[in-house]
Amino acid sequence: MIIKLFDKKYNKNNISIQTILSLIKNYNTPFWLYCAENIKDKITQLKQFDTIRFAQKACSNINILKLMRYEGVKVDAISLGEIERAIVAGYNPKKINDIIFTSDVFDKETLRYIKKSNITVNVGSIDMLYQLGYISKGHNILLRINPGFGYGHNKKTNTGGEKSKHGIWYEDLKNAISIIKKFNLNLIGIHMHIGSGVNYQHLEKVCNSMLYNVLQTYMPKIDIISAGGGLSIPYKINDLKVDTNHYFNLWNNTRNIIKNFFKKNIKLEIEPGRFLVAESGILICQVCAIKIIKNRRFVLVNIGFNDLIRPVMYGSYHYISAISSKGKDMSIYPKVKTIVAGPLCESGDIFTQTDNGEIIFFMLPIVNIGDYLIFHDTGAYGASMSSNYNSRPLIPEILIENNIPKIIRRRQKIKDLINLELF
Ligand code: LLP
Repeated sequence: MIIKLFDKKYNKNNISIQTILSLIKNYNTPFWLYCAENIKDKITQLKQFDTIRFAQKACSNINILKLMRYEGVKVDAISLGEIERAIVAGYNPKKINDIIFTSDVFDKETLRYIKKSNITVNVGSIDMLYQLGYISKGHNILLRINPGFGYGHNKKTNTGGEKSKHGIWYEDLKNAISIIKKFNLNLIGIHMHIGSGVNYQHLEKVCNSMLYNVLQTYMPKIDIISAGGGLSIPYKINDLKVDTNHYFNLWNNTRNIIKNFFKKNIKLEIEPGRFLVAESGILICQVCAIKIIKNRRFVLVNIGFNDLIRPVMYGSYHYISAISSKGKDMSIYPKVKTIVAGPLCESGDIFTQTDNGEIIFFMLPIVNIGDYLIFHDTGAYGASMSSNYNSRPLIPEILIENNIPKIIRRRQKIKDLINLELF
Protein backbone atom coordinates (compact mmCIF):
# COMPACT_ATOMS: atom_id res chain seq x y z
CA MET A 1 0.00 0.00 0.00
CA ILE A 2 1.29 3.47 -0.82
CA ILE A 3 1.18 5.58 2.28
CA LYS A 4 0.37 9.17 1.54
CA LEU A 5 2.16 11.61 3.79
CA PHE A 6 1.05 15.08 4.67
CA ASP A 7 3.55 17.90 4.21
CA LYS A 8 6.51 15.60 3.67
CA LYS A 9 9.27 17.93 4.80
CA TYR A 10 7.66 18.35 8.19
CA ASN A 11 6.28 14.89 8.77
CA LYS A 12 9.17 13.87 10.98
CA ASN A 13 7.37 10.76 12.18
CA ASN A 14 6.20 9.50 8.77
CA ILE A 15 2.66 9.26 10.01
CA SER A 16 0.19 8.70 7.20
CA ILE A 17 -2.89 10.78 6.55
CA GLN A 18 -4.91 7.58 6.83
CA THR A 19 -3.67 7.06 10.37
CA ILE A 20 -4.50 10.63 11.33
CA LEU A 21 -7.95 10.43 9.79
CA SER A 22 -8.76 7.20 11.59
CA LEU A 23 -7.64 8.75 14.89
CA ILE A 24 -9.83 11.78 14.19
CA LYS A 25 -12.73 9.42 13.51
CA ASN A 26 -12.17 7.55 16.78
CA TYR A 27 -11.26 10.38 19.11
CA ASN A 28 -12.36 13.66 17.46
CA THR A 29 -10.10 16.69 17.37
CA PRO A 30 -8.17 18.22 19.01
CA PHE A 31 -5.50 15.79 20.27
CA TRP A 32 -1.74 15.41 20.74
CA LEU A 33 -0.01 12.61 18.86
CA TYR A 34 3.48 11.29 19.71
CA CYS A 35 5.66 8.78 17.93
CA ALA A 36 7.67 6.38 20.13
CA GLU A 37 10.24 5.54 17.44
CA ASN A 38 11.16 9.20 17.09
CA ILE A 39 11.84 9.42 20.84
CA LYS A 40 13.92 6.21 20.79
CA ASP A 41 15.98 7.57 17.92
CA LYS A 42 16.73 10.73 19.91
CA ILE A 43 17.77 8.68 22.92
CA THR A 44 20.19 6.70 20.73
CA GLN A 45 21.78 9.95 19.56
CA LEU A 46 22.80 10.75 23.14
CA LYS A 47 24.01 7.29 24.10
CA GLN A 48 27.63 8.50 24.48
CA PHE A 49 26.70 10.21 27.74
CA ASP A 50 26.91 8.00 30.85
CA THR A 51 23.46 9.11 31.97
CA ILE A 52 20.61 10.61 29.99
CA ARG A 53 18.15 12.20 32.38
CA PHE A 54 14.82 13.29 30.91
CA ALA A 55 13.63 16.72 32.06
CA GLN A 56 10.04 15.53 32.31
CA LYS A 57 8.62 19.05 32.48
CA ALA A 58 8.82 18.89 28.66
CA CYS A 59 6.28 16.04 28.48
CA SER A 60 5.34 14.41 31.74
CA ASN A 61 2.76 11.81 30.67
CA ILE A 62 3.54 8.65 32.64
CA ASN A 63 3.45 6.55 29.48
CA ILE A 64 6.20 8.70 27.97
CA LEU A 65 8.12 8.29 31.24
CA LYS A 66 7.65 4.51 31.04
CA LEU A 67 9.04 4.54 27.53
CA MET A 68 12.04 6.53 28.77
CA ARG A 69 12.61 4.06 31.60
CA TYR A 70 12.47 1.02 29.30
CA GLU A 71 15.11 2.74 27.16
CA GLY A 72 17.42 3.25 30.14
CA VAL A 73 16.78 6.98 30.54
CA LYS A 74 16.72 8.41 34.10
CA VAL A 75 14.40 11.20 35.15
CA ASP A 76 14.44 14.71 36.58
CA ALA A 77 11.58 16.06 38.72
CA ILE A 78 10.82 19.63 39.71
CA SER A 79 7.82 19.04 42.00
CA LEU A 80 6.19 16.43 44.18
CA GLY A 81 3.78 15.83 41.31
CA GLU A 82 6.66 15.03 38.98
CA ILE A 83 8.27 12.75 41.60
CA GLU A 84 5.00 10.82 41.92
CA ARG A 85 4.64 10.56 38.15
CA ALA A 86 8.14 9.10 37.94
CA ILE A 87 7.34 6.53 40.64
CA VAL A 88 4.10 5.50 38.92
CA ALA A 89 6.16 5.05 35.74
CA GLY A 90 8.36 2.58 37.65
CA TYR A 91 11.34 4.70 38.70
CA ASN A 92 12.69 3.79 42.11
CA PRO A 93 13.16 6.78 44.44
CA LYS A 94 15.53 4.77 46.66
CA LYS A 95 18.02 4.29 43.84
CA ILE A 96 20.53 7.11 44.05
CA ASN A 97 20.43 7.77 40.31
CA ASP A 98 16.84 7.08 39.22
CA ILE A 99 15.10 10.33 40.15
CA ILE A 100 16.79 13.64 40.85
CA PHE A 101 14.77 16.50 42.29
CA THR A 102 15.96 19.80 40.81
CA SER A 103 14.63 22.99 42.32
CA ASP A 104 15.43 26.32 43.94
CA VAL A 105 12.88 25.81 46.73
CA PHE A 106 11.36 23.15 48.97
CA ASP A 107 7.80 23.27 50.13
CA LYS A 108 7.21 21.41 53.39
CA GLU A 109 5.39 18.43 51.90
CA THR A 110 8.01 17.88 49.21
CA LEU A 111 10.90 18.19 51.68
CA ARG A 112 9.30 15.62 53.98
CA TYR A 113 8.78 13.23 51.08
CA ILE A 114 12.33 13.69 49.82
CA LYS A 115 13.80 12.94 53.24
CA LYS A 116 11.56 9.88 53.70
CA SER A 117 12.36 8.48 50.26
CA ASN A 118 15.99 9.62 50.26
CA ILE A 119 15.67 11.19 46.82
CA THR A 120 18.82 12.86 45.52
CA VAL A 121 18.43 16.64 45.32
CA ASN A 122 19.99 19.03 42.84
CA VAL A 123 20.11 22.06 45.12
CA GLY A 124 19.51 25.48 43.60
CA SER A 125 19.66 27.78 46.66
CA ILE A 126 21.56 28.25 49.91
CA ASP A 127 18.28 28.09 51.84
CA MET A 128 17.62 24.60 50.51
CA LEU A 129 20.98 23.47 51.91
CA TYR A 130 19.98 24.60 55.40
CA GLN A 131 16.48 23.17 55.13
CA LEU A 132 17.67 19.77 53.94
CA GLY A 133 20.73 19.78 56.21
CA TYR A 134 18.65 20.32 59.36
CA ILE A 135 16.42 17.32 58.78
CA SER A 136 18.48 14.90 56.68
CA LYS A 137 22.18 14.70 57.50
CA GLY A 138 24.25 12.85 54.91
CA HIS A 139 21.62 13.35 52.16
CA ASN A 140 22.91 12.96 48.58
CA ILE A 141 22.99 16.25 46.73
CA LEU A 142 24.25 17.95 43.61
CA LEU A 143 24.79 21.69 43.45
CA ARG A 144 23.20 23.61 40.63
CA ILE A 145 25.51 26.52 39.89
CA ASN A 146 24.53 29.74 38.18
CA PRO A 147 27.82 30.51 36.42
CA GLY A 148 27.07 34.22 36.06
CA PHE A 149 25.76 34.09 32.50
CA GLY A 150 22.97 32.35 30.63
CA TYR A 151 21.31 31.98 27.28
CA GLY A 152 17.91 30.96 25.90
CA HIS A 153 15.83 30.92 22.71
CA ASN A 154 13.85 33.63 24.49
CA LYS A 155 14.68 35.78 27.50
CA LYS A 156 12.09 33.79 29.46
CA THR A 157 14.07 30.58 28.94
CA ASN A 158 17.44 31.99 30.02
CA THR A 159 18.27 30.41 33.38
CA GLY A 160 21.69 31.92 34.11
CA GLY A 161 23.14 35.34 34.91
CA GLU A 162 22.30 37.95 37.48
CA LYS A 163 18.67 38.32 36.39
CA SER A 164 17.92 34.63 36.84
CA LYS A 165 16.35 33.13 39.96
CA HIS A 166 17.95 29.75 39.23
CA GLY A 167 20.91 28.03 40.80
CA ILE A 168 23.49 28.98 43.40
CA TRP A 169 25.35 32.10 42.37
CA TYR A 170 28.92 31.10 41.56
CA GLU A 171 30.37 33.59 44.04
CA ASP A 172 28.39 31.87 46.83
CA LEU A 173 29.93 28.50 46.15
CA LYS A 174 32.47 28.61 48.98
CA ASN A 175 29.68 29.44 51.41
CA ALA A 176 27.64 26.53 50.00
CA ILE A 177 30.54 24.14 50.54
CA SER A 178 30.95 25.21 54.16
CA ILE A 179 27.22 24.62 54.82
CA ILE A 180 27.51 21.22 53.13
CA LYS A 181 30.38 20.35 55.48
CA LYS A 182 28.54 21.65 58.52
CA PHE A 183 25.56 19.38 57.84
CA ASN A 184 27.61 16.54 56.49
CA LEU A 185 25.58 16.56 53.26
CA ASN A 186 26.96 14.21 50.64
CA LEU A 187 27.95 16.25 47.59
CA ILE A 188 27.99 13.83 44.66
CA GLY A 189 27.86 16.17 41.71
CA ILE A 190 27.79 19.58 40.06
CA HIS A 191 25.11 20.71 37.63
CA MET A 192 24.86 23.63 35.23
CA HIS A 193 21.86 24.46 33.06
CA ILE A 194 22.06 27.97 31.64
CA GLY A 195 18.92 27.90 29.51
CA SER A 196 16.89 26.35 26.73
CA GLY A 197 18.20 26.67 23.20
CA VAL A 198 21.93 26.87 23.85
CA ASN A 199 24.49 27.37 21.08
CA TYR A 200 28.05 25.98 20.98
CA GLN A 201 29.71 29.25 21.91
CA HIS A 202 27.79 29.38 25.15
CA LEU A 203 28.36 25.71 25.66
CA GLU A 204 32.13 26.22 25.66
CA LYS A 205 31.70 28.97 28.20
CA VAL A 206 29.65 26.64 30.41
CA CYS A 207 32.26 23.88 30.15
CA ASN A 208 35.01 26.31 31.14
CA SER A 209 32.96 27.60 34.02
CA MET A 210 32.29 24.03 35.21
CA LEU A 211 36.03 23.37 35.18
CA TYR A 212 36.88 26.59 36.95
CA ASN A 213 34.28 26.11 39.69
CA VAL A 214 35.00 22.43 40.33
CA LEU A 215 38.77 22.79 40.38
CA GLN A 216 38.95 26.17 42.10
CA THR A 217 36.56 25.25 44.92
CA TYR A 218 38.22 21.84 45.11
CA MET A 219 35.50 19.20 45.12
CA PRO A 220 37.38 15.91 45.10
CA LYS A 221 34.36 13.87 46.25
CA ILE A 222 32.09 14.48 43.30
CA ASP A 223 31.23 11.58 40.95
CA ILE A 224 28.98 13.36 38.48
CA ILE A 225 29.02 16.46 36.34
CA SER A 226 25.70 17.31 34.71
CA ALA A 227 25.53 19.36 31.54
CA GLY A 228 21.85 20.22 32.12
CA GLY A 229 19.51 20.37 29.15
CA GLY A 230 18.98 23.06 26.56
CA LEU A 231 19.73 21.25 23.29
CA SER A 232 17.78 22.90 20.51
CA ILE A 233 15.80 21.29 17.70
CA PRO A 234 15.05 22.55 14.16
CA TYR A 235 11.59 24.16 14.38
CA LYS A 236 12.07 25.97 11.05
CA ILE A 237 13.04 24.16 7.87
CA ASN A 238 16.46 25.87 7.73
CA ASP A 239 17.28 25.58 11.43
CA LEU A 240 20.38 23.49 12.04
CA LYS A 241 20.24 20.19 13.87
CA VAL A 242 22.35 20.04 16.98
CA ASP A 243 25.59 18.15 16.43
CA THR A 244 25.44 15.72 19.32
CA ASN A 245 29.03 14.51 18.74
CA HIS A 246 30.35 18.04 19.01
CA TYR A 247 28.21 18.59 22.08
CA PHE A 248 29.49 15.38 23.67
CA ASN A 249 33.13 16.09 22.81
CA LEU A 250 33.09 19.50 24.49
CA TRP A 251 31.66 18.01 27.67
CA ASN A 252 33.82 14.91 27.49
CA ASN A 253 36.99 17.05 27.42
CA THR A 254 35.76 18.88 30.50
CA ARG A 255 34.99 15.60 32.23
CA ASN A 256 38.42 14.19 31.36
CA ILE A 257 40.25 17.17 32.81
CA ILE A 258 38.31 16.83 36.08
CA LYS A 259 38.81 13.05 36.04
CA ASN A 260 42.58 13.39 35.61
CA PHE A 261 42.82 16.13 38.20
CA PHE A 262 41.07 14.12 40.92
CA LYS A 263 42.30 10.76 39.56
CA LYS A 264 38.87 9.17 39.73
CA ASN A 265 36.01 8.26 37.45
CA ILE A 266 33.54 11.07 36.80
CA LYS A 267 30.18 10.33 35.19
CA LEU A 268 28.91 12.68 32.52
CA GLU A 269 25.21 13.36 32.64
CA ILE A 270 22.90 15.24 30.26
CA GLU A 271 19.37 16.42 31.07
CA PRO A 272 17.40 17.26 27.95
CA GLY A 273 13.69 17.79 27.67
CA ARG A 274 12.98 19.30 24.26
CA PHE A 275 15.60 17.31 22.33
CA LEU A 276 14.07 13.97 23.32
CA VAL A 277 10.41 14.70 22.66
CA ALA A 278 9.71 17.89 20.67
CA GLU A 279 9.94 16.38 17.21
CA SER A 280 7.99 13.27 18.19
CA GLY A 281 4.81 15.28 18.74
CA ILE A 282 2.14 16.93 16.62
CA LEU A 283 -1.09 18.65 17.59
CA ILE A 284 -4.16 18.10 15.43
CA CYS A 285 -7.07 20.53 15.43
CA GLN A 286 -9.93 21.62 13.19
CA VAL A 287 -10.89 24.86 11.48
CA CYS A 288 -14.10 26.27 13.01
CA ALA A 289 -14.44 29.74 11.48
CA ILE A 290 -12.82 32.04 8.94
CA LYS A 291 -12.90 35.83 9.05
CA ILE A 292 -11.58 38.29 6.51
CA ILE A 293 -10.90 41.64 8.15
CA LYS A 294 -9.47 44.32 5.85
CA ASN A 295 -7.52 41.80 3.77
CA ARG A 296 -6.42 39.89 6.82
CA ARG A 297 -7.42 36.25 6.77
CA PHE A 298 -8.07 34.84 10.24
CA VAL A 299 -8.46 31.08 10.53
CA LEU A 300 -9.98 30.16 13.89
CA VAL A 301 -9.40 26.65 15.22
CA ASN A 302 -10.59 24.53 18.13
CA ILE A 303 -7.40 24.86 20.19
CA GLY A 304 -6.26 27.90 22.13
CA PHE A 305 -3.26 28.99 24.13
CA ASN A 306 -4.68 26.95 26.98
CA ASP A 307 -3.59 23.95 24.86
CA LEU A 308 -0.41 25.21 23.18
CA ILE A 309 1.02 28.28 24.91
CA ARG A 310 4.49 28.50 23.31
CA PRO A 311 3.58 30.92 20.47
CA VAL A 312 1.87 33.30 22.90
CA MET A 313 4.46 33.03 25.65
CA TYR A 314 7.65 33.17 23.58
CA GLY A 315 6.55 33.97 20.00
CA SER A 316 7.57 30.40 19.18
CA TYR A 317 7.25 29.15 15.65
CA HIS A 318 5.51 25.86 14.87
CA TYR A 319 5.12 24.81 11.27
CA ILE A 320 1.46 24.21 10.36
CA SER A 321 0.23 21.77 7.71
CA ALA A 322 -3.30 21.22 6.52
CA ILE A 323 -5.42 18.21 5.60
CA SER A 324 -8.82 18.78 3.99
CA SER A 325 -11.99 17.53 5.65
CA LYS A 326 -12.11 14.90 2.89
CA GLY A 327 -8.63 13.69 3.85
CA LYS A 328 -6.51 15.35 1.14
CA ASP A 329 -2.97 16.54 1.75
CA MET A 330 -3.25 20.31 1.14
CA SER A 331 0.49 21.04 1.06
CA ILE A 332 0.42 21.29 -2.74
CA TYR A 333 -2.44 23.80 -2.72
CA PRO A 334 -1.74 27.53 -3.19
CA LYS A 335 -0.79 29.22 0.05
CA VAL A 336 -2.04 32.53 1.39
CA LYS A 337 -1.04 34.81 4.23
CA THR A 338 -3.01 33.58 7.22
CA ILE A 339 -3.40 34.47 10.88
CA VAL A 340 -4.16 31.34 12.89
CA ALA A 341 -6.09 31.96 16.09
CA GLY A 342 -7.90 30.09 18.84
CA PRO A 343 -11.29 30.29 20.54
CA LEU A 344 -10.28 31.96 23.83
CA CYS A 345 -11.70 35.23 24.97
CA GLU A 346 -8.26 36.87 24.75
CA SER A 347 -7.02 38.97 21.86
CA GLY A 348 -3.60 37.40 22.32
CA ASP A 349 -4.93 33.92 21.54
CA ILE A 350 -3.04 33.85 18.25
CA PHE A 351 -0.55 31.22 17.13
CA THR A 352 1.16 33.43 14.59
CA GLN A 353 2.85 36.21 16.55
CA THR A 354 6.29 37.45 17.52
CA ASP A 355 7.67 37.38 21.04
CA ASN A 356 6.51 40.95 21.64
CA GLY A 357 2.96 40.13 20.61
CA GLU A 358 2.97 41.46 17.08
CA ILE A 359 0.69 39.52 14.74
CA ILE A 360 2.44 37.85 11.82
CA PHE A 361 1.22 35.72 8.92
CA PHE A 362 1.77 32.08 8.18
CA MET A 363 1.65 30.92 4.56
CA LEU A 364 -1.14 28.37 4.86
CA PRO A 365 -3.07 26.57 2.10
CA ILE A 366 -6.55 28.05 1.56
CA VAL A 367 -8.43 26.05 4.17
CA ASN A 368 -12.16 25.89 4.83
CA ILE A 369 -14.30 25.15 7.83
CA GLY A 370 -13.95 21.47 8.74
CA ASP A 371 -10.39 21.11 7.42
CA TYR A 372 -7.68 20.00 9.83
CA LEU A 373 -4.51 21.80 10.86
CA ILE A 374 -1.42 20.12 12.27
CA PHE A 375 1.01 22.00 14.52
CA HIS A 376 4.42 20.36 14.26
CA ASP A 377 7.19 19.78 16.79
CA THR A 378 4.83 20.19 19.70
CA GLY A 379 5.96 17.15 21.73
CA ALA A 380 7.90 19.34 24.18
CA TYR A 381 6.25 21.97 26.37
CA GLY A 382 2.95 21.33 24.58
CA ALA A 383 0.59 19.16 26.61
CA SER A 384 2.67 19.69 29.76
CA MET A 385 2.06 23.45 29.67
CA SER A 386 -1.67 23.23 28.94
CA SER A 387 -4.22 24.71 31.30
CA ASN A 388 -7.97 24.82 31.87
CA TYR A 389 -8.30 28.53 31.06
CA ASN A 390 -11.79 29.48 29.89
CA SER A 391 -12.92 26.19 31.51
CA ARG A 392 -11.61 24.20 28.58
CA PRO A 393 -10.84 20.57 29.37
CA LEU A 394 -7.41 19.07 28.66
CA ILE A 395 -7.26 17.26 25.33
CA PRO A 396 -6.22 13.61 24.77
CA GLU A 397 -2.67 12.40 24.18
CA ILE A 398 -2.07 9.46 21.83
CA LEU A 399 1.20 7.54 21.43
CA ILE A 400 1.98 5.56 18.28
CA GLU A 401 4.41 2.67 18.69
CA ASN A 402 5.07 0.13 15.92
CA ASN A 403 2.18 1.73 14.01
CA ILE A 404 -0.22 0.97 16.85
CA PRO A 405 -1.86 4.03 18.39
CA LYS A 406 -2.59 3.96 22.10
CA ILE A 407 -4.51 6.58 24.00
CA ILE A 408 -2.24 7.66 26.85
CA ARG A 409 -4.44 10.40 28.31
CA ARG A 410 -8.17 10.53 27.88
CA ARG A 411 -9.96 13.75 27.10
CA GLN A 412 -10.81 15.56 30.32
CA LYS A 413 -14.52 16.03 30.88
CA ILE A 414 -16.05 19.36 31.87
CA LYS A 415 -17.58 17.38 34.72
CA ASP A 416 -14.03 16.58 35.96
CA LEU A 417 -13.39 20.30 36.29
CA ILE A 418 -16.65 21.13 37.98
CA ASN A 419 -16.35 18.20 40.41
CA LEU A 420 -13.23 19.77 41.91
CA GLU A 421 -15.38 22.58 43.19
CA LEU A 422 -18.37 20.59 44.44
CA PHE A 423 -18.27 19.47 48.09
N1 LLP B 1 17.19 21.00 33.26
C1 LLP B 1 16.71 22.06 33.93
C2 LLP B 1 17.19 22.35 35.28
C3 LLP B 1 15.75 22.90 33.34
O1 LLP B 1 15.30 23.96 33.99
C4 LLP B 1 15.27 22.59 32.04
C5 LLP B 1 14.26 23.41 31.40
C6 LLP B 1 15.80 21.46 31.38
C7 LLP B 1 16.77 20.70 32.02
C8 LLP B 1 15.37 21.06 30.01
O2 LLP B 1 15.60 22.04 29.07
P1 LLP B 1 15.40 21.69 27.50
O3 LLP B 1 16.38 20.59 27.18
O4 LLP B 1 14.02 21.21 27.33
O5 LLP B 1 15.67 22.95 26.79
N2 LLP B 1 8.77 26.19 28.26
C9 LLP B 1 9.96 26.57 27.51
C10 LLP B 1 11.19 25.87 28.01
C11 LLP B 1 11.44 26.06 29.49
C12 LLP B 1 12.52 25.18 30.01
C13 LLP B 1 12.58 25.17 31.48
N3 LLP B 1 13.66 24.38 31.99
C14 LLP B 1 9.71 26.30 26.01
O6 LLP B 1 8.60 25.91 25.66
O7 LLP B 1 10.60 26.51 25.20
